[in-house]
Amino acid sequence: MRLLVTGGCGFIGTNFVYMMLEKHPDMVIVNLDKLTYAGNRLNVLPLEKRLGGTRYHFAHGDIANAELVAHLLVSHRIDAVVNFAAESHVDRSIADCGPFITTNVLGTQVLLDTARRLGIPKFVHVSTDEVYGTLGPEGKFSEETPLAPNSPYSASKAAADMLCRAFFETHNFPVTITRCSNNYGPYQFPEKLIPLMILKASRGESLPVYGDGQNVRDWIHVSDHCRGVELALMNGRPGQVYNFGGNAEKANIEVVRIILRALGKSEDLISFVKDRPGHDRRYAMDYSLAAKELGFTPEYSFERGIAGTLEWYRANAQWLEEVQSGAYRTFMDNWYGERR
Ligand code: NAD
Ligand code: TYD
Repeated sequence: MRLLVTGGCGFIGTNFVYMMLEKHPDMVIVNLDKLTYAGNRLNVLPLEKRLGGTRYHFAHGDIANAELVAHLLVSHRIDAVVNFAAESHVDRSIADCGPFITTNVLGTQVLLDTARRLGIPKFVHVSTDEVYGTLGPEGKFSEETPLAPNSPYSASKAAADMLCRAFFETHNFPVTITRCSNNYGPYQFPEKLIPLMILKASRGESLPVYGDGQNVRDWIHVSDHCRGVELALMNGRPGQVYNFGGNAEKANIEVVRIILRALGKSEDLISFVKDRPGHDRRYAMDYSLAAKELGFTPEYSFERGIAGTLEWYRANAQWLEEVQSGAYRTFMDNWYGERR
């Protein structure tokens, strides 16, 4: 299989590219990434050194560039697209939602249009549980739950999902949508809750918990999500949506306390701050369809997953510091120069 993966220098894309090249010795991956603030080409440097030009190819560019997308699809004889590329942080979408529309909506439309025009036989679009909006204390999101996005981020993801649906219904284009809950694990940018709290706690800085800290997320280890996307790619039905979740609902304050305890830091570092506007109260995923049709179950308990994640961030403290300070951009420029 020859895959075009978009956003493969971001958090989940990096994990996915490593996993797929390792598991499938015949697979070729072309990674199209714009290298926004969230994209770090150094994440995949070991792959470039080992497999660059043979089973792994990097293309620096925008998913909204139709000419480039068409060129990659044709020149690499791509037979499936997996679209991870996105603006992904809710707080940034509240500050400025423009780039979310450009990449998440327009970019997805360009990918869909180009892949359809060139007859690509499989397209997996990676979406999020956030398109369903928010839950009360009971119940879970199923694939039948109506979309009710509350943030500009989730609205842009829901718009892209609707385009995917329309391409299947109107053009019979074989697109499968995956919707997953909150991921954690190696290579996550330290603007998201878990790596941000690890970074701040290890520096002895205060940990900003929004509102009362009782918002609940259904945490899934990134490798379980990547396996879900792999299953959707290999066996997912065209036109179908598949939910993935981690079976690990936790209130934010609980997650923060677990991190502080594991790092031997005081809970005095916790600082309750003004709530995020439109803050979804609770997410929880019913993934029984993916379990039944794809054989998906999350393998990581939160306890095992967070222990491994803390260990990864401890062993990669420099990665975390450099990403946070922006120093990785300088290293990336020095390493790749013009080829960035
Ligand atoms: P991320 O922000 O870490 O990475 C996004 C990547 O996309 C970066 O490498 C960035 O450079 C690239 N990118 C951005 N705009 C681009 C463009 N126009 N063209 C090409 N590349 C571009 O995001 P992530 O957390 O890895 O999320 C990946 C996908 O999974 C997103 O679609 C997100 O909505 C979805 N998702 C994320 C989570 C989560 O918890 N992180 C949960 C469910 C779904
Ligand atoms: P985040 O990692 O931004 O993911 P999402 O908003 O997509 O769920 O946030 C996870 C939860 O943690 C969410 O309820 C908001 C909360 N949060 C904080 O309390 N403090 C923070 O500094 C951040 C970044 C998030």
